[in-house]
Amino acid sequence: MQRFHFLLIYSISFLLFVSFTVTAQQTRSNISLGSPLTPTRNSSWLSGSGRYAFGFYRRGNGYKVGIFLAGILEKTIVWTANRDDPPVPSNATLLLNTEGKLVLQSTEGRDTDIVYISLPASSASMLDSGNFVLYNSSGGIIWQSFGHPTDTILPTQRLLPGVELFSSVSETDPSTGKFRLKMQQDGNLVQYPINTPDTGPYAYYASGTDGWGDNVTLNLDVDGRLYLLNSSSFNSKNITGVFPTGEKIYLMRVDSDGIFRLYSHNLRQNGTSSIEWQSSNNKCAPIGVCGFNSYCVLNDQKGECLCVPGFAFVNQGNWTSGCERNFTAESCSNRGGPVKYKIQLWTTLSGKIIRILFCTKLPKKTVKKHVWWIAIVKLPSSRVKIVSAKCKGFL
Ligand SMILES: *[C@@H]1O[C@H](CO)[C@@H](O)[C@H](O)[C@H]1NC(C)=O
Ligand SMILES: *[C@@H]1O[C@H](CO)[C@@H](O)[C@H](O)[C@H]1NC(C)=O
Ligand SMILES: *[C@@H]1O[C@H](CO)[C@@H](O)[C@H](O)[C@H]1NC(C)=O
Ligand SMILES: *[C@@H]1O[C@H](CO)[C@@H](O)[C@H](O)[C@H]1NC(C)=O
Ligand SMILES: *[C@@H]1O[C@H](CO)[C@@H](O)[C@H](O)[C@H]1NC(C)=O
Ligand SMILES: *[C@@H]1O[C@H](CO)[C@@H](O)[C@H](O)[C@H]1NC(C)=O
Ligand SMILES: *[C@@H]1O[C@H](CO)[C@@H](O)[C@H](O)[C@H]1NC(C)=O
Ligand SMILES: *[C@@H]1O[C@H](CO)[C@@H](O)[C@H](O)[C@H]1NC(C)=O
Ligand SMILES: *[C@@H]1O[C@H](CO)[C@@H](O)[C@H](O)[C@H]1NC(C)=O
Ligand SMILES: *[C@@H]1O[C@H](CO)[C@@H](O)[C@H](O)[C@H]1NC(C)=O
Repeated sequence: MQRFHFLLIYSISFLLFVSFTVTAQQTRSNISLGSPLTPTRNSSWLSGSGRYAFGFYRRGNGYKVGIFLAGILEKTIVWTANRDDPPVPSNATLLLNTEGKLVLQSTEGRDTDIVYISLPASSASMLDSGNFVLYNSSGGIIWQSFGHPTDTILPTQRLLPGVELFSSVSETDPSTGKFRLKMQQDGNLVQYPINTPDTGPYAYYASGTDGWGDNVTLNLDVDGRLYLLNSSSFNSKNITGVFPTGEKIYLMRVDSDGIFRLYSHNLRQNGTSSIEWQSSNNKCAPIGVCGFNSYCVLNDQKGECLCVPGFAFVNQGNWTSGCERNFTAESCSNRGGPVKYKIQLWTTLSGKIIRILFCTKLPKKTVKKHVWWIAIVKLPSSRVKIVSAKCKGFL
């Protein structure tokens, strides 16, 4: 049987490194209309203390726009605008234009909104908390990055009821990945794979605070304490303890492996980061960490994907591609034609739910689309029909 071992090693290196080719950064926190940034010169707007910056950061062969911890060796990204858009070339311009919109000009004559606001902004500011805000003419906040988190929350930032964080694809790709952390309206903080219903069988982490009401928020303090609060501000549940303050900055991120972690950055040591706390020590805990028809086993603290019996890896050397039935390998990795698939959820004896993909033709009723699963089998989404069913007792 073929198998592919993948390493899920998280250490202080789980950071986004960005090259320091940046020149002539502006130091100002009050950004007025008509202010431009470009990837190579005046590439970001710094907060007053210089700790956070809003602007371009290098990604792949181009640049993305976001917020990052500045002034430390490991430039850590905490927010990304339009995360699923491709990086832009070095001739792009980010502009708080005279109409009060924050736009990215990357192709001739076309502006892309960086933030979506219905009323014009009068100025903007990169705050020392890491929050990037837009103000109206009377100084009211009309948009803030703290209200639109991606995969990270910072101290004093709050995850509101109904809001979720989505992991990134990888340390180097900030696009939407495979996992989410949701502050549910029932008061429970829960992790699921993406594109799944908010129901028990898909959950792999829960705070156990359901029934706390529709106003529970996730909060992070400057001392690294992560906690849940209901609206009376008096019933709280601590998820982590408190940590030393002073020369440390804390942040919480849903990592691309599906586990959420509290990190500290030690400013005395060039911002070196360490994991202070994590939602699970089990790299196999996140449902869906392995591809189709494969399951995760722990091997010496590392997660390893194995194909279920009778299946082989679709794409050797790439565990996210999952496994397919060996004898129908041809039809599974089809040549673009309209092929129908049957997806079944199996519960293994150990209680784990895995997804089995069969390349059999199916009746057309009760079909539904499932983008993430389709992406894994690399087929045009419009052509694939998927049926979910649930079976018990496999393995
Ligand atoms: C920012 O600039 C505007 C307009 O120039 C000014 O009215 C405002 O007081 C400034 N705010 C800060 C915090 O400097
Ligand atoms: C950067 O911006 C400042 C202030 O707007 C401007 O004076 C300076 O010329 C700009 N630098 C470059 C290299 O464009
Ligand atoms: C940037 O350069 C590309 C070609 O390299 C060009 O197509 C594009 O229009 C340029 N964008 C701007 C804003 O000049
Ligand atoms: C600015 O925003 C604040 C808060 O959102 C609002 O109360 C105020 O009316 C707005 N002012 C203007 C001139 O739009
Ligand atoms: C907050 O929690 C306390 C204790 O469980 C409860 O008595 C209170 O009603 C809750 N507040 C709201 C607004 O749900
Ligand atoms: C939720 O909290 C907000 C602010 O604390 C409050 O205005 C609102 O009434 C609360 N809603 C409920 C249902 O408790
Ligand atoms: C949470 O931790 C804080 C700080 O250590 C403490 O003051 C508080 O009582 C704790 N809350 C609960 C509900 O345990
Ligand atoms: C910080 O980084 C600089 C440059 O790499 C290095 O010389 C210095 O020893 C580092 N300091 C600490 C405390 O790690
Ligand atoms: C692995 O497969 C996935 C899905 O088929 C694809 O998106 C990804 O780019 C592949 N990764 C590598 C390293 O080939
Ligand atoms: C499928 O199984 C046969 C027989 O065990 C083996 O020879 C073949 O290499 C397998 N194909 C794949 C794609 O693993």
